[in-house]
Amino acid sequence: MTTSLDYLKQTGTVVVSDSGDFESVLGILTNSLQDATTNPSLILAAANKAGYARLIDAAVAFGKSKGGDIDTQVNAAMDRLLVEFGKEILAIIPGRVSTEVDARLSFDKEATKAKAKELIALYDSVGVKKDRILIKIASTWEGIQAARELERDDGIHCNLTLLFGFGQAVACAEAGVTLISPFVGRILDWYKKSTGKTFEGDEDPGVISVKKIFNYYKQYGYKTIVMGASFRNTGEIKALAGVDFLTISPSLLEELKKSTEPVPKRLDSVAAAKAKDLPKVTYIDNEPEFRWALLQDQMAFDKLHEGIKKFAEDGETLKALLKSKLSA
Ligand SMILES: *[C@@H]1O[C@H](CO)[C@@H](O)[C@H](O)[C@H]1NC(C)=O
Repeated sequence: MTTSLDYLKQTGTVVVSDSGDFESVLGILTNSLQDATTNPSLILAAANKAGYARLIDAAVAFGKSKGGDIDTQVNAAMDRLLVEFGKEILAIIPGRVSTEVDARLSFDKEATKAKAKELIALYDSVGVKKDRILIKIASTWEGIQAARELERDDGIHCNLTLLFGFGQAVACAEAGVTLISPFVGRILDWYKKSTGKTFEGDEDPGVISVKKIFNYYKQYGYKTIVMGASFRNTGEIKALAGVDFLTISPSLLEELKKSTEPVPKRLDSVAAAKAKDLPKVTYIDNEPEFRWALLQDQMAFDKLHEGIKKFAEDGETLKALLKSKLSA
């Protein structure tokens, strides 16, 4: 039986699991998923399950071994926890795992670079090489420039997240980042809320946004991988069939597996490259213009900042959990 998920993969799209929960990752492993992601929000959801206590214990022990004041220990434990989860996931997938830099550092290029290097060194200390890691960084000006230098000077691959606007995508491509993950569903949420309307398939503003980014990248020969993320329904996923990568939640993956409806290819890199219909935009060394473009795009501006806040809060909650364990 050919499922919609099989059809989707036949369009050339690489499908990735969006989960910090190994059981659901394992459940869909039979579909040979490539890559996976982890972040404080996902870990927080998994952390309360008994099966993961050993990872938390290992992170707490590591934090303690670092000595110093409690905040130093908490930060060390936090980094170690991300790496413990990442390592565990890498044992069951063939591809790469994304690990997030603390969202609190989103406006600090140097601190983002330093944290990325620390995470890579930690992974290395547990036997995981950097080619299996993507460092996840918010698509602020500072984040994009940090990624540019990490990719260029350190060969550290980056996944630029909280990407909602075309300007952010252009700057990421110019920075030579390995991968961007535009959030389709969150774009839809914003437009639904601000217009009171509903949107479907090709009319969905999240779908429109990712299509434009994909076409622009192919037209100008950028190698940065476009990975659509955060989907609200399978209609959005199907409308993007053919895009480089898609990261899909376990529940929507299940839906695609249960359906046998064919999924035709909608995005085509060859056709996009030939079309030559999108004018060139550039932000190289031009922070003022980048900021101005972002300010003009209310949706991208709101969603970027809201996302940073939420990621940082989840990071704080996870740190509070580690702190209580460290001081117990
Ligand atoms: C990149 O980050 C997004 C979150 O922005 C995540 O959903 C996705 O799985 C990551 N991609 C890879 C290849 O790890």
